[in-house]
Amino acid sequence: MVFSRLFKMTSHDMAIDLGTANTVVYVRGRGIVLNEPSVVAVETINGVKRVKAVGEDAKLMMGKTPGSIEAIRPMRDGVIADIDVAEQMIKHFIEKVHGRRRFMRWPEIVICVPSGSTKVERRAIRDAAQNAGASAVYLIDEPMAAAIGADMPVTEPIGSMVVDIGGGTTEVAVLSLRGLAYTTSVRVGGDKMDDAIVSYVRRNHNLLIGEATAERIKQELGCAKPPVDGIGKTVHIKGRDLVNGVPKEIQINQAQIAEAVSEPVAAIVDGVRIALENTAPELAADIVDQGIVLTGGGALLQGLDEVLRDETGLPVTVADEPLICVAIGTGRALEDPMFRAVLQNG
Ligand SMILES: Nc1ncnc2c1ncn2[C@@H]1O[C@H](COP(=O)(O)OP(=O)(O)OP(=O)(O)O)[C@@H](O)[C@H]1O
Ligand SMILES: [Mg+2]
Repeated sequence: MVFSRLFKMTSHDMAIDLGTANTVVYVRGRGIVLNEPSVVAVETINGVKRVKAVGEDAKLMMGKTPGSIEAIRPMRDGVIADIDVAEQMIKHFIEKVHGRRRFMRWPEIVICVPSGSTKVERRAIRDAAQNAGASAVYLIDEPMAAAIGADMPVTEPIGSMVVDIGGGTTEVAVLSLRGLAYTTSVRVGGDKMDDAIVSYVRRNHNLLIGEATAERIKQELGCAKPPVDGIGKTVHIKGRDLVNGVPKEIQINQAQIAEAVSEPVAAIVDGVRIALENTAPELAADIVDQGIVLTGGGALLQGLDEVLRDETGLPVTVADEPLICVAIGTGRALEDPMFRAVLQNG
């Protein structure tokens, strides 16, 4: 008894939200301890690959690396695109959190995966965590983790709808009694919004800008619908002129950014509409009362909640801390026996 309590106190058990854009780590009893971009910079010298930087440091190198270094995002569209690099990344983050000390026992790890992941993808994530030093690995579906993190009544016989808008995917789910009653995933999220801004600026201004610049503009003044005054704020952006090849600066306003991201925003609205159409009537009735909760970094796009409210006629709210909501939910599932049933072994 005393021994098991001691074990708990020195626990290194972790919950990991291995996202396309960001990896967030939660440690039992400590809460969120790490939140960094899912980016790895790999250097190749004489054909041998070596990890040069991971996370924040690697993201700063994106789009600016010399020929021998490549900044890789091992997760794309919400699943592992480069398994070796993903494993290195998980190892690095575990070490960063716990140091190189020896464990009394290896940690148990709960990892959240997109609900649409195939068996093969789930296996790959499990293997990567196991190789990185986990004694046991459990998986949890991302919308379930998001809903737990947002304090939704997932264990009760009440239907609730969560929309998690990440970097790679938007997951729409209806949950009740610890299960996913309906779920759909659209491979559209923050990344597609960045791509849409890059294309818009190229098409309309003959200017080539990088992904990082597009993401910065989106975060600073991106919006899902045109501002009330028709134009909104204006920002300067720099890139390379496609006509004469030299660096150039242009101005872009919020109305133009709203136009640029309109396609991905429409795809998210469609995903929500499809989920609503496929929801059983009793659960749909609950959603009318409970409303829809938005999580994930994409939920921070200005006016997205309003657009969804207008399109569905339902109450829509943004979770308290959308960027860490999934990790908090994954952590609670690790800590609280009430949620044990939502963890998966296989
Ligand atoms: N203020 C903001 N406005 C718009 N988008 C934002 C804002 N802040 C962050 N984002 C976007 O949120 C996305 C990251 O969200 P999040 O960390 O939830 O994704 P993820 O969990 O890594 O991805 P996924 O769940 O698809 O695997 C990025 O595309 C980022 O640009
Ligand atoms: Mg996510």
